Amino acid sequence: MKIAVLPGDGIGPEIVAEALRVLKAIDLKFEFEEAPVGGAGYRAKAHPLPEDTLKLVKASDAILFGAVGDFSLDTLPRELRPEQAILGLRKELNLFANFRPALVYPELVHASSLKPEVVAGLDILIIRELTGDIYFGKPRGIHTLENGEREGFDTMRYKESEIRRVAHVGFQAAQKRGKRLCSVDKANVLDTMQLWREIVIEVSKEYPDVALEHMYVDNAAMQLLKSPKQFDVIVTGNMFGDILSDEASMLTGSIGMLPSASLNEKNFGLYEPIHGSAPDIAGKGIANPLATILSAAMMLRYSFNLAEPADRIEAAVKKVLAQGYRTGDIKEAGAKMVGTKEMGDAVLAAL
Ligand code: IPM
Ligand code: MG
Repeated sequence: MKIAVLPGDGIGPEIVAEALRVLKAIDLKFEFEEAPVGGAGYRAKAHPLPEDTLKLVKASDAILFGAVGDFSLDTLPRELRPEQAILGLRKELNLFANFRPALVYPELVHASSLKPEVVAGLDILIIRELTGDIYFGKPRGIHTLENGEREGFDTMRYKESEIRRVAHVGFQAAQKRGKRLCSVDKANVLDTMQLWREIVIEVSKEYPDVALEHMYVDNAAMQLLKSPKQFDVIVTGNMFGDILSDEASMLTGSIGMLPSASLNEKNFGLYEPIHGSAPDIAGKGIANPLATILSAAMMLRYSFNLAEPADRIEAAVKKVLAQGYRTGDIKEAGAKMVGTKEMGDAVLAAL
């Protein structure tokens, strides 16, 4: 099995290095090959998603991804900005189903800005559609009106087939968990979302064992803070999922703890932490590598059906938290404060 390793920008290389050490320690005879993406891709090959990088991922069995984003390249035309790397990979590889679990570890209950009783024991899964919606809808652009004023526009669109396939993923994920699915939309205002709701209801007929609920996105944003434990699996569109998953990450104490998987229908996947490149702390060796390490565990579970080593990695992460190891993002008085590499060492020792 070949894994394409795309560290990207900012803290990307530091956190990916730790996840790689963990994967290598498990010794599954994977072959790893690294390539530049994002700002690193632009600097090396004048494109955020260089041709060779795309070739490599297409010849691989899974992708381990760090993060992309580099402020110093924000003045480039949109198609050359670092973010285009991840958007391009999602689209090119048809990675339409994005799994973003939000789990509160008992040791980190106090790291959340919410009251412990609100978040203790939280275990939810957000499934975000990843290749459609206003992220990719055309037409889009900035044009000049007759009166000389400029106008920006993007288009929210969803085809029935796109809604249906991610709805199936949502119902099937719910079947494996608490059998409850909440579909988040804005059907009261947007036609696209009215269709979303209709299709989700249609698909629900095939899953009589799953309790389906619908919620408007504004209410969902509120409910996630008010009583997040009411949710089991949430399925939603690309933009709402982007926003709600960042919100959900804060329930868990730190965005530095949350892994993700982006899959196509063949379970080929890209695995990445949900956080960004954090340029403010890049190169300092202080970033939390746990989200990336947990993403590697998701890779074993979802793309390679290797539940046992995935369980072991997740257990090792739980153990280092129980042992009191903390990076700056989950800082706690009396804890063993460590940097990126020491956190990786602790996970390896626990393994
Ligand atoms: C995410 C990120 C990306 C997105 C950016 C980097 C393009 O925020 O993965 O959530 O908006 O999808
Ligand atoms: Mg985001």
